[in-house]
Amino acid sequence: MKYLPIIICALALCLGETYAAEQDTDTDKKVLAAWEKNCAPCHGKNGKGTTTIGRKMKAADLTSEKIQKKYKDKQEEIVKLISEGLIKDKKVIMKPLKDKLEEEDMKELAKYLEELGKKKDEK
Ligand code: HEC
Repeated sequence: MKYLPIIICALALCLGETYAAEQDTDTDKKVLAAWEKNCAPCHGKNGKGTTTIGRKMKAADLTSEKIQKKYKDKQEEIVKLISEGLIKDKKVIMKPLKDKLEEEDMKELAKYLEELGKKKDEK
């Protein structure tokens, strides 16, 4: 029964979607607001990095397979990245946000990032 994994996946996707649709909670709004304020200027609302600044800075497409794979099941690394920022060749690319965001919010953002990757696959 080689299709079984596919069927299970499809089912999980369906369930996930209904779940997501019903889940319009305060947390969601908070994450979305935090994303739009802190990340979207460069990475865009959809995480693809196609904003004007994003293009200029060559912001990573966070929905890409490369990034999604790199951070799969590694939320704590995303939290660390958000917290400490990204500094390359002594240039600050992403500002450290540890003084601006609560640990909880960073965790939610990390989850949100994963969601963005999944959303891309649905289309
Ligand atoms: C000022 C613009 C800017 C903002 C704001 C910004 N980023 Fe980035 N981000 C970048 C750029 C540019 C890169 C690509 C860096 C590189 O690889 O050289 C990047 C890369 C990343 C990466 C991939 C790092 C890797 O391992 O290659 C992640 C994940 C990320 N950003 C998450 C976030 C999150 C989450 C936020 C919001 C809390 C955020 N970024 C805010 C500009 C930004």
